[in-house]
Amino acid sequence: MESIIPILEFKKTCVSYTKQTMAVKYVSAAIERNTITAIMGPSGCGKSTLLRAVNLMHNLYSNIRVDGEILLNGENILLMEPIDVRRRVGMVFQRPAPFPTMSIYDNVLAGFALNGIHLSKSKKDEIVESNLKNVVLWDEVKDVLNKKGTFLSGGQQQRLCIARALAMKPDILLMDEPTSALDPIATKRIEELLLELQKKVTILVVTHNMGQAKRISSRSMFMYLGELVEYGDTETMFSNPEHERTKAYLIGKIG
Ligand SMILES: Nc1ncnc2c1ncn2[C@@H]1O[C@H](COP(=O)(O)OP(=O)(O)O)[C@@H](O)[C@H]1O
Ligand SMILES: [Mg+2]
Repeated sequence: MESIIPILEFKKTCVSYTKQTMAVKYVSAAIERNTITAIMGPSGCGKSTLLRAVNLMHNLYSNIRVDGEILLNGENILLMEPIDVRRRVGMVFQRPAPFPTMSIYDNVLAGFALNGIHLSKSKKDEIVESNLKNVVLWDEVKDVLNKKGTFLSGGQQQRLCIARALAMKPDILLMDEPTSALDPIATKRIEELLLELQKKVTILVVTHNMGQAKRISSRSMFMYLGELVEYGDTETMFSNPEHERTKAYLIGKIG
């Protein structure tokens, strides 16, 4: 039975920052396991808000309200302990943000430290090595593990942040425009990495870059003014969008 339960499902999910307006309006969608799903749409349409709701961002700010359900393996995360949700849901942001006071080594382990989980030295070494290998960063940093994470290039820092998220073995990895601060070569490396990583983790990625959505995602969502206008196979959405709004966005009429 397990396999038919979606890994993540939005059910009439709504998010409001103020009483008067909703930033995300009644989004319903089931995310497929071991795929990359792209979330597209013009600036301000609620992409980041939707993503951050999955990470329970609103628990940090009392004014933000989330309604409806967000099911992770069938369980409503809105009713779960934030600490449990954040262990199962990894997040990578737009600007690579390794913890600036921490070494590369400690950055990979930061999730464990934040959760108060103690590990033996050998276990730590193993987690650091395997996760830096997962993001194809090990060979570049294995001799400088005690240097600060911020000493790395932008692309390397972003791969370090992905390693930090993966170290917790999340069910789902959320990424908010993860390459928009990177140059084309670093971007290409991250895209190749994501294509590889989807075998291990389900990825939900917000992207402004339609070429990127086409290159890496098998499913796409198009959002407009807080609503999920269209959701389906990426190829179909690009070749034959169902809605006029989607078409207008994809051909660059609305941005
Ligand atoms: N912290 C916040 N407080 C109040 N309004 C916000 C906040 N963050 C985003 N919004 C509003 O919510 C809407 C959706 O924003 P956002 O999710 O950031 O869109 P996107 O990521 O698609 O650009 C916008 O109208 C934005 O102004
Ligand atoms: Mg955003």
